[in-house]
Amino acid sequence: MKLQQSTWPEVEAYLKESKGIVIPIGSTEQHGPTGLIGTDAICPETIAQGLSEQGILIGPTLSIGMAQHHLGFPGTITLRPSTLMSVIKDVIMSLKGHGFRQFLFLNGHGGNTQTTQAAFSEVFAEHSLDREASNLAMRLLNWFQGPRVRSLIDELYASADGNHATPSEIALTWYAYPDQIRDVPLTPEQAPSGEIRDASDYRRRFPDGRIGSKPQLASVDHGRQFYEAGLADALEVWRSLTDS
Ligand code: NI
Repeated sequence: MKLQQSTWPEVEAYLKESKGIVIPIGSTEQHGPTGLIGTDAICPETIAQGLSEQGILIGPTLSIGMAQHHLGFPGTITLRPSTLMSVIKDVIMSLKGHGFRQFLFLNGHGGNTQTTQAAFSEVFAEHSLDREASNLAMRLLNWFQGPRVRSLIDELYASADGNHATPSEIALTWYAYPDQIRDVPLTPEQAPSGEIRDASDYRRRFPDGRIGSKPQLASVDHGRQFYEAGLADALEVWRSLTDS
């Protein structure tokens, strides 16, 4: 069930059965010469499609995240951490007002992690300062860090997965959009690794946008396997969140 394709009476009826919702969250940022700009939003959205087919309500994808370090490449859009925190907090507070209590943010971008956790802490802080018993539960799952996905990454790519424009995320986008596969030669085959600073430093040290990855290893069939592993990981987290 998708919020964007529901009516308000349908949402009201859902709330009689469940207080939980999944919010896919991603980014709009370069993913090297072969990765789509929307990769980090497409991946959680694709896995959320599977959750939706099991009757779980899926909110709109928050497709712009904290991507300042990618601004050296055309097409990237970022929110400041403070803006993203406000967006996440307002989304939660809007839905809480309707009766939602369990929030699973299914995330596709490592750069959103700390900001999302900080937004959760802001929501909790307001409730605690008001001594309000809110029975809220908020969880962040980075789809690429679930146990089944991690072991599949180790099995298929090991260290060639790297840190950015990874074959695992590119495979999942190819599974979702098989008509959007790019075949472009990449030099070096495996990108350099290193720490992330600001946008100009990033472009200097990682000139084609990849970090540590060899995305040529991706395939549509791998993408199907990542979809299935990611769905199982997300369902497990959803159950522990909504059963508690
Ligand atoms: Ni990514």
